[in-house]
Amino acid sequence: MSSEEFEWFEKINWSKNPFQLSPIGKPDLVVGFDEEFQLLENYIRLGYDVIIEGPYGSGKTSLLLCLETIFKDNRLPIFFYAPPESVAELIQIISMELKLNDEVSPQVLYHKLRRSDDKIILLIDEAHDLNFNVAKMLRGLSDLLNISIIYSALNGFSFDKLPKILNTLADRVQEIIYLDLLSEEEVILAIKKRIEDVGGNEVSPFTEDAIKFIAKVSEGAPREAIKLCSAAIALAIRDSIFEIGVDVLEKITRRRPSEIVRKLQRLGAREKQVIKLFVSHPVITTGLVKDELSVSSQASYNVIARLMEKELVTSREAEGRGNEYLPVGLVKRILTQEIVNDILRLNI
Ligand SMILES: Nc1ncnc2c1ncn2[C@@H]1O[C@H](COP(=O)(O)OP(=O)(O)OP(=O)(O)O)[C@@H](O)[C@H]1O
Ligand SMILES: [Mg+2]
Repeated sequence: MSSEEFEWFEKINWSKNPFQLSPIGKPDLVVGFDEEFQLLENYIRLGYDVIIEGPYGSGKTSLLLCLETIFKDNRLPIFFYAPPESVAELIQIISMELKLNDEVSPQVLYHKLRRSDDKIILLIDEAHDLNFNVAKMLRGLSDLLNISIIYSALNGFSFDKLPKILNTLADRVQEIIYLDLLSEEEVILAIKKRIEDVGGNEVSPFTEDAIKFIAKVSEGAPREAIKLCSAAIALAIRDSIFEIGVDVLEKITRRRPSEIVRKLQRLGAREKQVIKLFVSHPVITTGLVKDELSVSSQASYNVIARLMEKELVTSREAEGRGNEYLPVGLVKRILTQEIVNDILRLNI
């Protein structure tokens, strides 16, 4: 941590930055999973196999890590960040966790596990990447009552992908749990919990409005919300700001490429034509726009003025030749031929 960061965190009483993008295995910090935890605890006690499905960033990995935390004292949870690539690897990892000799065959390991008192939970993330051989070994393990397998994967795994990998493994799955994106209230609660976890108070130094803004813009995706918060913190440290309001967040969202793309898509046909000129001209003048678009000088000036109002274009004085216009940095960066073809497709 730089001294600047250290001072900023000290001033607002935070022990560290609470907005890490990595998944979290702290059940107290995740929101909206209460029902899922209850269901999963039951299924795991019964030795059932379950699939957790959800879109990108919906908390699948976090949920598995929380299960690892919840069960670490009375079961043996084994977390796989991705399915093992081979049967040998699967055996090696399980043997390591059980402190067994890892030079055993699948049959021998099965036999040992069958006679063991250990209650094992295999937590397999990114299960959509499972291969046939590993699936076959899991099918064997799945039949043991002291082993529960929890898979997590992107939507479509249970109905589409797994039956194609190994139908008889799909048949052994008792339940599918779908993770939804969060509501705006849940996003706000998730942010509050993180801030309080590092010693902060409520949503401070964010204003209530700023947090509502984040909840709205992130559309229920926790990862997006955390990204916005951490970008806001970085800006606040840089500018020594101790109250983060909507203005700071607007500054951040305005600078995001996805926002710029959305802005370009919403432009009128003439505005799009002007933006398109920047692909072949680093700077333009009203004269050029007038000729290229076959419009009057006034109309050419008006369309450029609108683009400046929308903060897509800036002007500078050209020596002795009046003003010239150029795209703002982010527009310049994303303005490839592809963008022009796709996004600026002229609706005329
Ligand atoms: N329910 C939740 N409450 C609070 N924070 C959450 C919640 N779900 C996810 N997060 C946070 O959002 C971020 C993304 O979560 P996570 O990595 O677990 O999602 P994922 O579904 O595994 O994503 P991917 O599909 O990309 O693997 C993490 O920082 C995580 O802590
Ligand atoms: Mg994940």
